[in-house]
Amino acid sequence: MIFDTHAHYDDEQFDQDREELLGSMNAGGVGLIVDAASTIRSWDEIVKLTERYDFIYGSVGVHPDEVGSLDEESFQRMRELLDREKIVAVGEIGLDYYWDKENHDLQKKWFVRQLELAREKALPVMIHSREAAADTMEIMKTYAAGMNAVIHCYSYSAEMAREYVKMGYYIGVGGVVTFKNAKKLKQVVEEIPLEAIVLETDCPYLAPVPYRGKRNCSLYLPYVAEEIARLKGITCEAVIRQTEENARKLYRIN
Ligand code: NI
Repeated sequence: MIFDTHAHYDDEQFDQDREELLGSMNAGGVGLIVDAASTIRSWDEIVKLTERYDFIYGSVGVHPDEVGSLDEESFQRMRELLDREKIVAVGEIGLDYYWDKENHDLQKKWFVRQLELAREKALPVMIHSREAAADTMEIMKTYAAGMNAVIHCYSYSAEMAREYVKMGYYIGVGGVVTFKNAKKLKQVVEEIPLEAIVLETDCPYLAPVPYRGKRNCSLYLPYVAEEIARLKGITCEAVIRQTEENARKLYRIN
Protein backbone atom coordinates (compact mmCIF):
# COMPACT_ATOMS: atom_id res chain seq x y z
CA MET A 1 0.00 0.00 0.00
CA ILE A 2 0.98 3.60 -0.57
CA PHE A 3 2.49 5.63 2.29
CA ASP A 4 2.20 9.42 1.81
CA THR A 5 4.96 10.79 4.05
CA HIS A 6 4.05 14.49 3.73
CA ALA A 7 0.55 15.89 3.17
CA HIS A 8 -1.43 18.93 4.33
CA TYR A 9 -5.04 17.76 4.64
CA ASP A 10 -5.47 20.42 7.32
CA ASP A 11 -5.28 23.00 4.48
CA GLU A 12 -8.42 25.00 3.75
CA GLN A 13 -8.33 23.81 0.14
CA PHE A 14 -9.78 20.55 1.50
CA ASP A 15 -12.56 22.17 3.55
CA GLN A 16 -15.28 21.39 0.98
CA ASP A 17 -14.69 17.64 0.60
CA ARG A 18 -12.11 16.54 3.19
CA GLU A 19 -14.23 13.78 4.67
CA GLU A 20 -15.27 12.30 1.35
CA LEU A 21 -11.72 12.45 0.00
CA LEU A 22 -10.10 10.88 3.07
CA GLY A 23 -12.84 8.23 3.05
CA SER A 24 -11.73 7.17 -0.42
CA MET A 25 -8.04 6.70 0.39
CA ASN A 26 -8.19 3.04 1.32
CA ALA A 27 -10.00 2.02 -1.86
CA GLY A 28 -7.40 4.05 -3.77
CA GLY A 29 -4.56 2.00 -2.32
CA VAL A 30 -3.35 4.66 0.13
CA GLY A 31 -2.73 3.03 3.50
CA LEU A 32 -0.90 5.61 5.60
CA ILE A 33 -0.55 9.39 5.60
CA VAL A 34 1.54 11.72 7.74
CA ASP A 35 0.00 15.19 7.84
CA ALA A 36 2.76 17.78 8.14
CA ALA A 37 2.42 20.91 10.24
CA SER A 38 3.50 24.22 8.76
CA THR A 39 1.91 26.89 10.99
CA ILE A 40 1.07 26.95 14.70
CA ARG A 41 -2.57 27.20 13.64
CA SER A 42 -2.32 23.86 11.81
CA TRP A 43 -1.42 21.90 14.98
CA ASP A 44 -4.97 21.54 16.37
CA GLU A 45 -6.35 20.54 12.97
CA ILE A 46 -3.68 17.88 12.64
CA VAL A 47 -4.34 16.45 16.10
CA LYS A 48 -8.04 16.26 15.18
CA LEU A 49 -7.28 14.41 11.94
CA THR A 50 -5.08 11.88 13.78
CA GLU A 51 -7.87 11.27 16.29
CA ARG A 52 -10.51 10.79 13.63
CA TYR A 53 -8.65 8.59 11.14
CA ASP A 54 -6.67 5.44 12.04
CA PHE A 55 -4.43 5.78 9.01
CA ILE A 56 -3.46 9.43 9.57
CA TYR A 57 -0.45 10.34 11.70
CA GLY A 58 0.88 13.85 12.15
CA SER A 59 3.86 16.05 12.78
CA VAL A 60 4.16 19.24 14.79
CA GLY A 61 6.57 22.02 13.91
CA VAL A 62 6.87 25.42 12.28
CA HIS A 63 7.86 26.03 8.65
CA PRO A 64 10.77 28.48 8.09
CA ASP A 65 8.38 31.02 6.46
CA GLU A 66 6.38 31.11 9.70
CA VAL A 67 9.01 31.11 12.46
CA GLY A 68 8.30 34.78 13.24
CA SER A 69 5.17 33.54 15.02
CA LEU A 70 7.11 31.22 17.37
CA ASP A 71 7.79 32.15 20.98
CA GLU A 72 8.65 30.27 24.17
CA GLU A 73 5.01 29.68 25.00
CA SER A 74 4.16 28.07 21.66
CA PHE A 75 7.42 26.16 21.77
CA GLN A 76 6.36 24.69 25.11
CA ARG A 77 3.01 23.73 23.58
CA MET A 78 4.84 21.99 20.77
CA ARG A 79 6.86 20.04 23.33
CA GLU A 80 3.61 18.80 24.92
CA LEU A 81 1.95 17.87 21.63
CA LEU A 82 4.99 15.79 20.67
CA ASP A 83 4.16 13.40 23.52
CA ARG A 84 0.97 12.32 21.73
CA GLU A 85 1.14 8.81 20.35
CA LYS A 86 0.15 9.69 16.78
CA ILE A 87 2.42 12.71 16.49
CA VAL A 88 5.41 10.93 14.98
CA ALA A 89 7.77 13.70 13.84
CA VAL A 90 8.93 17.29 14.20
CA GLY A 91 8.25 19.20 11.01
CA GLU A 92 8.22 20.71 8.67
CA ILE A 93 11.27 22.66 9.77
CA GLY A 94 14.25 24.09 7.92
CA LEU A 95 15.37 27.05 5.86
CA ASP A 96 13.70 28.83 2.94
CA TYR A 97 15.79 31.51 1.23
CA TYR A 98 13.53 31.45 -1.84
CA TRP A 99 10.49 33.10 -0.27
CA ASP A 100 12.79 34.66 2.31
CA LYS A 101 9.92 35.67 4.59
CA GLU A 102 11.94 35.65 7.80
CA ASN A 103 15.54 36.75 8.22
CA HIS A 104 18.15 34.03 7.98
CA ASP A 105 19.35 34.23 11.57
CA LEU A 106 15.82 33.81 12.89
CA GLN A 107 15.21 30.89 10.52
CA LYS A 108 18.43 29.22 11.68
CA LYS A 109 17.70 29.83 15.35
CA TRP A 110 14.30 28.11 15.24
CA PHE A 111 15.52 25.38 12.90
CA VAL A 112 18.19 24.46 15.45
CA ARG A 113 15.82 24.76 18.43
CA GLN A 114 13.33 22.43 16.72
CA LEU A 115 16.07 19.93 15.83
CA GLU A 116 17.20 19.93 19.46
CA LEU A 117 13.62 19.35 20.59
CA ALA A 118 13.32 16.40 18.20
CA ARG A 119 16.49 14.93 19.65
CA GLU A 120 15.19 15.44 23.19
CA LYS A 121 11.99 13.59 22.22
CA ALA A 122 13.84 10.98 20.11
CA LEU A 123 11.62 11.83 17.13
CA PRO A 124 12.40 12.02 13.40
CA VAL A 125 12.43 15.36 11.56
CA MET A 126 10.89 16.52 8.26
CA ILE A 127 13.18 19.01 6.59
CA HIS A 128 12.03 21.79 4.28
CA SER A 129 14.95 23.42 2.44
CA ARG A 130 14.75 25.76 -0.52
CA GLU A 131 17.70 27.65 -1.99
CA ALA A 132 19.52 27.07 1.27
CA ALA A 133 21.54 23.97 0.40
CA ALA A 134 24.83 24.79 2.14
CA ASP A 135 23.36 26.16 5.38
CA THR A 136 20.93 23.24 5.65
CA MET A 137 23.69 20.68 5.18
CA GLU A 138 25.88 22.39 7.76
CA ILE A 139 23.10 22.55 10.36
CA MET A 140 22.07 18.93 9.74
CA LYS A 141 25.67 17.80 10.19
CA THR A 142 26.07 19.78 13.40
CA TYR A 143 22.70 19.21 15.07
CA ALA A 144 21.02 16.18 13.47
CA ALA A 145 23.78 13.58 13.21
CA GLY A 146 22.39 10.10 13.82
CA MET A 147 18.77 11.27 13.81
CA ASN A 148 16.00 9.97 11.55
CA ALA A 149 15.25 12.59 8.91
CA VAL A 150 13.63 13.11 5.53
CA ILE A 151 14.66 15.90 3.19
CA HIS A 152 11.18 16.65 1.93
CA CYS A 153 10.46 17.78 -1.65
CA TYR A 154 14.14 17.35 -2.44
CA SER A 155 15.33 19.97 -4.95
CA TYR A 156 19.15 19.89 -4.84
CA SER A 157 21.88 17.99 -6.71
CA ALA A 158 22.40 14.25 -6.96
CA GLU A 159 25.77 14.70 -5.30
CA MET A 160 24.23 16.30 -2.22
CA ALA A 161 21.48 13.65 -2.18
CA ARG A 162 24.16 10.95 -2.01
CA GLU A 163 25.73 12.78 0.91
CA TYR A 164 22.39 12.92 2.77
CA VAL A 165 21.84 9.22 2.07
CA LYS A 166 25.27 8.49 3.52
CA MET A 167 24.18 10.34 6.66
CA GLY A 168 21.23 7.90 6.89
CA TYR A 169 18.52 10.32 5.79
CA TYR A 170 15.64 9.73 3.39
CA ILE A 171 14.90 11.74 0.26
CA GLY A 172 11.25 12.77 -0.25
CA VAL A 173 10.09 12.52 -3.87
CA GLY A 174 6.73 13.82 -5.08
CA GLY A 175 4.86 15.14 -8.11
CA VAL A 176 7.79 17.21 -9.40
CA VAL A 177 9.55 14.02 -10.59
CA THR A 178 6.83 13.60 -13.24
CA PHE A 179 7.48 17.06 -14.73
CA LYS A 180 9.24 16.96 -18.08
CA ASN A 181 11.76 19.64 -17.06
CA ALA A 182 12.67 18.02 -13.71
CA LYS A 183 15.99 16.69 -15.01
CA LYS A 184 17.84 17.17 -11.72
CA LEU A 185 15.32 15.27 -9.61
CA LYS A 186 15.10 12.44 -12.16
CA GLN A 187 18.88 12.15 -11.94
CA VAL A 188 18.67 12.05 -8.12
CA VAL A 189 16.17 9.17 -8.31
CA GLU A 190 18.43 7.29 -10.73
CA GLU A 191 21.52 7.72 -8.59
CA ILE A 192 20.34 7.01 -5.03
CA PRO A 193 19.15 3.59 -3.83
CA LEU A 194 15.40 2.90 -3.69
CA GLU A 195 15.95 2.15 0.02
CA ALA A 196 16.52 5.89 0.58
CA ILE A 197 13.39 7.18 -1.20
CA VAL A 198 10.00 7.96 0.34
CA LEU A 199 6.85 9.04 -1.52
CA GLU A 200 5.13 12.31 -0.66
CA THR A 201 2.47 14.58 -2.11
CA ASP A 202 2.90 17.87 -0.23
CA CYS A 203 -0.78 18.17 -1.17
CA PRO A 204 -2.65 20.39 -1.96
CA TYR A 205 0.52 21.52 -3.78
CA LEU A 206 2.67 19.96 -6.51
CA ALA A 207 0.28 17.57 -8.23
CA PRO A 208 1.97 15.18 -10.66
CA VAL A 209 1.33 15.06 -14.40
CA PRO A 210 -1.46 14.66 -15.66
CA TYR A 211 -2.89 16.79 -12.82
CA ARG A 212 -0.10 19.38 -12.76
CA GLY A 213 -1.46 22.74 -11.54
CA LYS A 214 -4.56 21.18 -9.98
CA ARG A 215 -5.14 20.39 -6.32
CA ASN A 216 -3.00 17.42 -5.35
CA CYS A 217 -3.99 14.46 -3.16
CA SER A 218 -2.53 11.10 -2.09
CA LEU A 219 -4.62 9.24 -4.70
CA TYR A 220 -2.24 10.64 -7.36
CA LEU A 221 0.86 9.04 -5.86
CA PRO A 222 0.76 6.08 -8.31
CA TYR A 223 1.89 8.57 -10.99
CA VAL A 224 4.94 9.38 -8.88
CA ALA A 225 5.65 5.70 -8.19
CA GLU A 226 5.30 4.94 -11.93
CA GLU A 227 7.90 7.54 -12.83
CA ILE A 228 10.34 6.31 -10.17
CA ALA A 229 9.79 2.76 -11.46
CA ARG A 230 10.48 3.88 -15.02
CA LEU A 231 13.68 5.68 -14.01
CA LYS A 232 14.91 2.68 -12.04
CA GLY A 233 13.75 0.01 -14.50
CA ILE A 234 11.64 -1.83 -11.91
CA THR A 235 7.93 -2.36 -11.31
CA CYS A 236 5.62 0.20 -9.77
CA GLU A 237 4.62 -2.41 -7.17
CA ALA A 238 8.26 -2.75 -6.09
CA VAL A 239 8.49 1.03 -5.66
CA ILE A 240 5.31 1.17 -3.58
CA ARG A 241 6.39 -1.77 -1.40
CA GLN A 242 9.93 -0.53 -0.72
CA THR A 243 8.96 3.11 -0.12
CA GLU A 244 6.33 1.97 2.38
CA GLU A 245 8.96 -0.01 4.25
CA ASN A 246 11.29 3.01 4.17
CA ALA A 247 8.61 5.35 5.48
CA ARG A 248 7.72 2.99 8.33
CA LYS A 249 11.37 2.94 9.35
CA LEU A 250 11.66 6.72 9.06
CA TYR A 251 8.64 7.41 11.29
CA ARG A 252 8.91 4.20 13.35
CA ILE A 253 5.39 3.01 12.50
CA ASN A 254 4.94 -0.79 12.52
NI1 NI B 1 4.80 20.69 2.95
